[in-house]
Amino acid sequence: MTRAHRVAVIGGDGIGPEVTRAALRVLDAAERRFGFSTSREELPWSSARYLEGGAAVTPAEIDALRRFDAILFGAIGDPRAPRGVVERDVILGMRRRLDLFVNLRPIVAYDDRLVPLKGKRAEDVDFVVVRENTEDVYTQTGAITGSGKDQVAEAPMRFTRPGIERVVRYAFELARSRPRKHLTLVDKSNAIPVQQLWRDILEEVGTGYPDVERDAMYVDAATMWFVLKPERFDTIVTTNLFGDIITDLGAAICGGLGVAASGNINPGRTSMFEPIHGSAPKYAGRGVASPLGAIGAVALLLRHVGEREAGDAVERAIRDRLRDGRVKGVEAGAQRTDEVAEIIAEAVSAP
Ligand code: IPM
Ligand code: MG
Repeated sequence: MTRAHRVAVIGGDGIGPEVTRAALRVLDAAERRFGFSTSREELPWSSARYLEGGAAVTPAEIDALRRFDAILFGAIGDPRAPRGVVERDVILGMRRRLDLFVNLRPIVAYDDRLVPLKGKRAEDVDFVVVRENTEDVYTQTGAITGSGKDQVAEAPMRFTRPGIERVVRYAFELARSRPRKHLTLVDKSNAIPVQQLWRDILEEVGTGYPDVERDAMYVDAATMWFVLKPERFDTIVTTNLFGDIITDLGAAICGGLGVAASGNINPGRTSMFEPIHGSAPKYAGRGVASPLGAIGAVALLLRHVGEREAGDAVERAIRDRLRDGRVKGVEAGAQRTDEVAEIIAEAVSAP
């Protein structure tokens, strides 16, 4: 019997649908080579749907995603919709309602020419950020109250012990599986004393991982070391907000938003995979966006559904074709979207 996986496909807005389509061609190639199958269902959640007068997506529709093993997501965001509304409903909606508490963001440079840091090479940029994905100031609570000079904008930065514990444990497991076995907590517990809870839990959980070396760093310092000494990092665990910020910088030091991918994961349950880039409306429909982020998301998705070998093969195909120059770059316009997909799919089929 062939292994079968159920995959929901949400192209979304802007370049989302075209990079997703390109990534599915690579998934086709992986299926043929590694002997598994997927059943795919496309879901039309988008800003267009919102602008037509409905909701981009309803909570019940998100809950119904549980029938899938994984979700491949493109991008969301449209300048014609009010800022943040559709992003909140779709992306944050999936993260919260499906309890996708890990946001896994590999910061891996595939080729020397993609590293913009002076004196650094691809081998210097090879780490992974585990971003907590359900708590912090992302819980959509808080309000602007009062009027005139008395206006106050307030939103709680809220962390729960179970919320921290589960993501710290995940990060220790991941660090243990990597050759360097080193975990760094990134926080701001000097200025935000409640973040001491993260340090306490790092120590508690860490006693169960004596083989994993651990340390902690303030987020401002971390941004500096990303640029000056990226090779010092192996596995990072951090809060939702800081994880959001440092992973854009992380994407930049490994080549830009065009190549970075992320997994929104609840281990063993329906999880969602997406490129880090957004909908890039100005490139939409032109066939010039880089599909590498979406293809990287397919690699992460494959590992999640148990197709590790296939996931590794997709990642290797991206690296090899960037290194030999057949994939010319990661920025929009470097090459046609379809052409890149074809080259990677071929490399997956016949390495
Ligand atoms: C990300 C994005 C989202 C976030 C936005 C679109 C809400 O920046 O996935 O990093 O802040 O998490
Ligand atoms: Mg972000």
